[in-house]
Amino acid sequence: MICEDQLVINKFVKEASKYTKLGEVADYIPALKTADPDTLSFAVFGETSSCLCAGDSNETFTLQSISKVITLALALMDNGVEKVFSKVGMEPTGDPFNSMIKLETHSPSKPLNPMINAGALAVSSMIKGENVDEKLSRLLRFVQDLAEDSTITFNDMVAQSEFDTANLNRSLCYFMKQHGVIDDDVNTLLEFYTKQCAIEVSCSQLAKIGFIIANEGKKLNSNEQLIPTHISKILKTFMVTCGMYNASGEFAIRVGIPAKSGVSGGIMVSVPNRIGIGIYGPALDERGNSIAGMHLLEALSNHYNLSIF
Ligand code: DON
Repeated sequence: MICEDQLVINKFVKEASKYTKLGEVADYIPALKTADPDTLSFAVFGETSSCLCAGDSNETFTLQSISKVITLALALMDNGVEKVFSKVGMEPTGDPFNSMIKLETHSPSKPLNPMINAGALAVSSMIKGENVDEKLSRLLRFVQDLAEDSTITFNDMVAQSEFDTANLNRSLCYFMKQHGVIDDDVNTLLEFYTKQCAIEVSCSQLAKIGFIIANEGKKLNSNEQLIPTHISKILKTFMVTCGMYNASGEFAIRVGIPAKSGVSGGIMVSVPNRIGIGIYGPALDERGNSIAGMHLLEALSNHYNLSIF
């Protein structure tokens, strides 16, 4: 028998799917161009709803900017709050995710927050490890633990495609190196960053990770603390203030839930103390967020009264 919530979800996913026609897949990373723009898949994970899904919730896609939340967690666990925020700020920018403008106009010249590319690159430079392989295997292990799946890995083709074309990110790195925010070799940092962005997950796995952040860092029905509570609070706060880039204000009003998007079309959502949601819809709006995913979340938030405000 299909439960009532599954019928509601099927209906909302079908309605939101219509918006895929109004968006476009990201093409500035060549390997992302081949995604099917009509796709929309969804999974929710939590105490009373594990695990409802719609569409192909096992299809994998790359994390892209969703990885910024996870690397921030690891960097904070590796270095502590004070050290991380000596290199990156806590304020939203209102600018596109890859903008350089505030790095130049603000003094001191540190990135305004960890959810824009400049801030995420600075955070990635703080992940502990002797070399890219060691940093990446620590990060992968962390993602595997959060999603409870030891097979999760990264897509080398997507990583290489981004590495070969990441001239804007390279320029952000050189600017930050000049101003003492990072001191890494730029291409080594970019190799790690592009591999972190290319970690592949499904909606179901993303919903599980979102749930742990929602559940103050703990697994479902367990006291195992994968992320310290104070860090899970920091993550949710950045997801609210900066998670949907320069659409974060509108998203807070229309949907009102901590969420983080990526240009592959993924969205990870953490409804505090309730559920985690994973969405994949690669057709993006002009600000780089999944267009159907945004409409789906608005409908679900209204129906289930999910807004935290
Ligand atoms: O650095 C980049 O441009 C990509 N790897 C990630 C950007 C991204 O996902 C922004 N999302 N909305």
